[in-house]
Amino acid sequence: MENPRSLIDILELSVEEIDELVACATRIMENPAAFAHKCDGKIMATLFFEPSTRTRLSFESAMLSLGGQVLGFSEAASSSAAKGESVADTVRTVSCYSDIIAMRHPKEGAPLVASMHSLVPVINAGDGGHNHPTQTLTDLLTIHHEKGRFENLTLGFCGDLKFGRTVHSLISAMSRYKGTRVALISPEELKLPSYVKKEILERSGVEYAQTTDLEAVMPELDILYMTRVQRERFFNEEDYLRLKDSYILTLDKLAGAKEDLSILHPLPRVNEISVAVDKDPRACYFKQVLYGRYIRMALIMKLLGLE
Ligand code: NCD
Repeated sequence: MENPRSLIDILELSVEEIDELVACATRIMENPAAFAHKCDGKIMATLFFEPSTRTRLSFESAMLSLGGQVLGFSEAASSSAAKGESVADTVRTVSCYSDIIAMRHPKEGAPLVASMHSLVPVINAGDGGHNHPTQTLTDLLTIHHEKGRFENLTLGFCGDLKFGRTVHSLISAMSRYKGTRVALISPEELKLPSYVKKEILERSGVEYAQTTDLEAVMPELDILYMTRVQRERFFNEEDYLRLKDSYILTLDKLAGAKEDLSILHPLPRVNEISVAVDKDPRACYFKQVLYGRYIRMALIMKLLGLE
C-alpha cells in the first residue's frame, strides 16, 4: 500500500501549495465557525519525544477547532520508547488509533522514518537540529500578513543558526522567492551548517552575507528572525554559557532599523529579545503564535484531503 502524503520537509510543498495554505488560513481567521466541523470524527495523535509548548498545543488547538479530537504523549518517558521501542513500531501502532500524526523527535530524520511506516499522514513537528516545516508555515503566514508578499525581502537570521531548525526550514522556503536576500548573523561557533549554505542558498542563487555584527546589517532588514541558543543540542554546558547571550535585541539596537521592520521569533524566548521590545509595533512574535494555530488548521485539512 502506498504511504499517505506526509509533511517532513517544507520543500515538499510547492510555492503554489504554500499560497493555497496561506489563503486557506486567512479564510479560517476571517470565519472560524465555517471550519468548526471539518474534522468531525477525525483523530490527531501528537507524539512529542521532546519538550514543546506552542507546537504541540497549537496542533491540538487546531484539531479541536476543526471539530476533531486529539490523543498523544508529551514526553518520551511516558511512551514505550522508554522500554526501547523503535520509532517505526510506535508509529505503526499509533497509526491504527489516529487519522493523522504530528511528531517531534530529538533525532534528525525520525519523522521521515515514521512516515515510511505510517498508515496515516505524519507531520514533522521538529526533528533535532534539522527541520521544522510547520514553524516555517507559521513564519510564512506572518510574513505574508506583515509584508503582503514573499518576493524581494531581506531577511536577517540572528542567533543559533547551527542548531536552529526553524532557521534551516525558513531559509529553504524563502530561497524559492525572487529577490530574497539573507544576512546570517551569529557567533563563529553557531554559523549556518554548510549543507544549508551549499544545497539551499548557493544552489538557488540567493544573495547572502555572514556577519557577527547585528547592528551593522540592521538598516537593510525587512525581517529580523531572532532565535534562542539551543542549549539541549550542546555537548557541554560551558560552551552554552559562553554563547547564550551573544545577541540581545534591545530598543537601542533597533535605532538604525527600518520603520516597517518585522521582528519574528519562533519562541520560546530566553534572553535574546528584551521585554521592552515587545511593545514596539515592529515586534510580531506573539502575533506569529496566533498564526501558527490557523496555518496548522489549514495543513491538517490539506493532508486529510478536506479542503
Ligand atoms: C522552536 C523549535 O522547537 O525548534 N520552537 C517552536 O517550535 N516554536 C524554536 C526553539 O525551540 O528555539
